[in-house]
Amino acid sequence: MTRRIFIRGLGSYLPEKVLTNSELEKMVDTSDEWIVTRTGIRERHIAAADQATSDLAAEAAKLALADASLDAKDMDAIFVATVTPDMPFPSTACFVQQKIGAGNCPCVGVEVGCSGIVYMLELASGLLERGPYKNILIIAADKLSAVTDWTDRSTCVILADGAAAMVLSTEEKGVRAEYLGGFIAANGAGAELLCQPGGGSRNPATEKSVAERLHFLKMNGKEVFKHAVKDMAFAVDMALRRCGIGPDDIAHFVPHQANMRIIEAIAEYVHIPLERFVAVLQRTGNTSSASLAIAMDMARREGRFKRGELLMPVAFGAGLTSSAAVLRWNG
Ligand code: ACO
Repeated sequence: MTRRIFIRGLGSYLPEKVLTNSELEKMVDTSDEWIVTRTGIRERHIAAADQATSDLAAEAAKLALADASLDAKDMDAIFVATVTPDMPFPSTACFVQQKIGAGNCPCVGVEVGCSGIVYMLELASGLLERGPYKNILIIAADKLSAVTDWTDRSTCVILADGAAAMVLSTEEKGVRAEYLGGFIAANGAGAELLCQPGGGSRNPATEKSVAERLHFLKMNGKEVFKHAVKDMAFAVDMALRRCGIGPDDIAHFVPHQANMRIIEAIAEYVHIPLERFVAVLQRTGNTSSASLAIAMDMARREGRFKRGELLMPVAFGAGLTSSAAVLRWNG
């Protein structure tokens, strides 16, 4: 018999420092008006210089563990999704394991851009369904400010830092939600539309690679925008089909928080009223892998979700990856 998978705890962390649009106006040739009308973003959080991705991840993990009333030592595995690891290796999950005081459980890195949370739900569920795993901590964390080119106005106005975590469990005890299924995919043909070209084995760090600014995030915004809308709409459809339900059954869509115009376009594409989409990017910017789980945590704290309602996280990211999941909210 397949075991049921629950989200037993949820937590999110945003660094203290807030960077406003008016501060960005002093850094690059942009305006609050352009950023708000083209993206919806008003402010974002930026990590301190001495905070690495694992520090953000550990903060979110501690909150999710407290929410689940479980100890780090109860975790049978730790997954961390990030595109800004502390170091190219070892896995950021290993640093988090130490920081939160978990046992010597397996630690897994997941490199799927902003689709991190939904990918981890699907991957960790496979382990939980099979056993002997009972509790798995999944964490999405990114310090995008570390790979942001602060002279590139087309990217620096949208990128931000943050982390979110969920405790997945096979035990139905004080659970926040049940994971009912999902869909994950990738289209490698678009891999170079959104990438960090320098620092890997293709372009190892050299004086030239640094001078050419290859260690910063590069994005073809227009092309990524088009893929984001089409691929997220497809992921929504596939996840609904897999769960045998229709769009009207979903009370709240919780999309990747990249750009308000992308969220509006998906709503139109799939014929779902915008009011059913959770959007917090005005306050958070694009925090990559963590973004939709931060949105989910903020929305539940505001009392937006009711017991028994169906939620659909839906994401898109570097890869180009896309993903959607169906959750039943429990409270
Ligand atoms: N301020 C002022 N003007 C700007 C800015 C800025 N910050 N950025 C670009 N412009 C200008 C451009 O130079 C261009 O001027 P031109 O017409 O004179 O050439 C004009 O504004 C329009 O530029 P576009 O690139 O067409 O702007 P667009 O409306 O596409 O918005 C954006 C750019 C916000 C990046 C958008 O394309 C986008 O959101 N793309 C998708 C982002 C995304 O979802 N990424 C995936 C996840 S990110 C991750 O995984 C880490």
